[in-house]
Amino acid sequence: MTQTNLWKRTHLCGHVSKKDVGQRVVVMGWTRKLRDHGGVLFIDLADREGIVQIVCNSEVNAETHKIASSIRNEWVIAVSGEVKNRTSDTINLGIPTGEIEIFAEKIEIFSKSKALPFEIANNIDTAEDIRLKYRYLDLRRSDMLRNLIIRHKTCKATRDYLSEEGFIEIETPILTKSTPEGARDYLVPSRVSPGKFFALPQSPQVFKQILMVSGVDKYFQIAKCFRDEDLRADRQPEFTQIDLEMSFVDEEDIYKLTEGLVSRIFSEVLNRKIKTPFKRFTYKDAMDTYGTDKPDIRFGLEFVDLGDVFKNTSFNVFKKVIENGGQIKAINLKNGTKFSLKEIENLTSIACAGGAKGMAWIRVEEDGMKSPIIKFFKEDEIDLLAKKMQVRAGDLLVFVGDTPEIVANSLRDVRNYLGKKMGLIDENKFEFVWVTDYPLLKWNEEEGRFQSEHHPFTAPREEDIPLLDTAPERIMSRSYDLVLNGVEICSGSIRIHSREIQEKVFKLLKMDRGEAEKRFGHLLEAFDYGVPPHGGIAPGLDRLIMLMTGSKSIRDVIAFPKTQKAASLMDDSPSEVAENQLKELHIKLDI
Ligand code: AMO
Ligand code: AMP
Repeated sequence: MTQTNLWKRTHLCGHVSKKDVGQRVVVMGWTRKLRDHGGVLFIDLADREGIVQIVCNSEVNAETHKIASSIRNEWVIAVSGEVKNRTSDTINLGIPTGEIEIFAEKIEIFSKSKALPFEIANNIDTAEDIRLKYRYLDLRRSDMLRNLIIRHKTCKATRDYLSEEGFIEIETPILTKSTPEGARDYLVPSRVSPGKFFALPQSPQVFKQILMVSGVDKYFQIAKCFRDEDLRADRQPEFTQIDLEMSFVDEEDIYKLTEGLVSRIFSEVLNRKIKTPFKRFTYKDAMDTYGTDKPDIRFGLEFVDLGDVFKNTSFNVFKKVIENGGQIKAINLKNGTKFSLKEIENLTSIACAGGAKGMAWIRVEEDGMKSPIIKFFKEDEIDLLAKKMQVRAGDLLVFVGDTPEIVANSLRDVRNYLGKKMGLIDENKFEFVWVTDYPLLKWNEEEGRFQSEHHPFTAPREEDIPLLDTAPERIMSRSYDLVLNGVEICSGSIRIHSREIQEKVFKLLKMDRGEAEKRFGHLLEAFDYGVPPHGGIAPGLDRLIMLMTGSKSIRDVIAFPKTQKAASLMDDSPSEVAENQLKELHIKLDI
């Protein structure tokens, strides 16, 4: 084994093709699959671009065959040899190099590998903590490398598109002051200023607004954001946004720009044409129809409001709900009559987990509606119900009656379950929707104060500004989300650009002058020196790539992600630090 590489690589493994037949090539990579057929040895040699088959024949080249026989999985080698057509019975059209093979003349071993903790192949179930500990091996899998390549191409398309649109890429600091995206901050102690801390940015929000005050006009950044919050499949403590901000714009400008960006990414990276403009829902419509502001519109099963059908009902359960100002809504599942009572029971338990006290149902048979509750309904109620829900034989109707919030949560979960279970979701589809017209504030019962629905810099609708003083709960905001296949992939707003209104909003959030001044004084001060109307948006890059690659978890599209417990298993961080490091920072631990 030599350490020096005296050879020059001529081809990447995955790039050797039929047009190279008859040529002498040099390839380098990892030995993935070894098959010993007596005197003939086959090796799949892999690199980032794919695999190529190497053939070592003891009768042709005994020396090389001997070296090849010693090789085990995932060693790194160089091979030189002639590219030949495979015999017709060994052609593998499943891979790009499947029509050729390389007849090895010389092999050099660069390095060996220990026995692997798991096999380097896609779709092999491996515990995630093992994958994360040996992330370098996990990333060697072609699916994972493909994800990284798609991510790179997406960043490139983003930079190209936004540059063409007149945006300037500007970096903002990582050591900064607390930002207001609503999660806990990651703090960094200052050695030079004892007792003081930087916060890692939850987003570049304040900086990008200040850049508008500076006259940058169009800013973007592929920005790292840090949030100490509970993690889920689509959340990481450290993630990336395509952050952007524009001056002198309204909502329509941002929608158009974002639609242009997303279509460019999909066409350039996935060769997929995305239809624009995207559909739009108001927040209210989304909640009414899907029970969520992140509707997955790849399938139907929309909610139907039956308040008017049952307004005079004698069915006690529904009657009480209506008397208490609640809602009755239903979903019509086509071909649902085949659901057994046991399956209906299962649906009921899903509805109840969402807060409902029960779930009523009706099976629509050829000879009429069947259900334990049908006897409570008058004929005109049934007729109206049938009309409103466009009932046909074979349908299963499921109902939940309760407060609007519980109806939304319960039916949303039932709908998502049914969509999956009935195979109604076309996994190949990309369905974008804008969700608009959010309320500006939401009431936090526990803390007895308003909270921003988006963040405190979001502008109220022009005509609602007087409500800041009279009825803040009724103010609508100028924020918007972009949802793809039921996942929020972008969020943004038109911002407040008046110090007076900004201060009023801070006050509604129970942030007194002193605190607002302390946290965001620099922004308020900047607003005293000529601030353009402005707005922006931040697509979540990781979530976008997760959906583009069809990955189940956001962790599969981040090279070195954190676990559910916000730890990195490969480099074993977070970890303890030396006593003298703490001392320098004037920190005493109290655990
Ligand atoms: P927001 O907090 O909604 O808005 O974030 C914008 C987008 O970032 C993604 N995202 C995340 N992705 C992975 N892990 C997380 N923990 C995480 N949190 C958010 C989502 C989300 O839509 N400054 C504002 C944007 C603006 O107003 O311009 C902001 O950060 O895809
Ligand atoms: P009960 O009177 O509780 O026996 O309920 C009669 C029927 O109404 C049963 O089929 C229940 O599942 C259904 N039901 C009960 N509560 C609700 C509710 N909140 N919404 C919809 N259906 C309900």
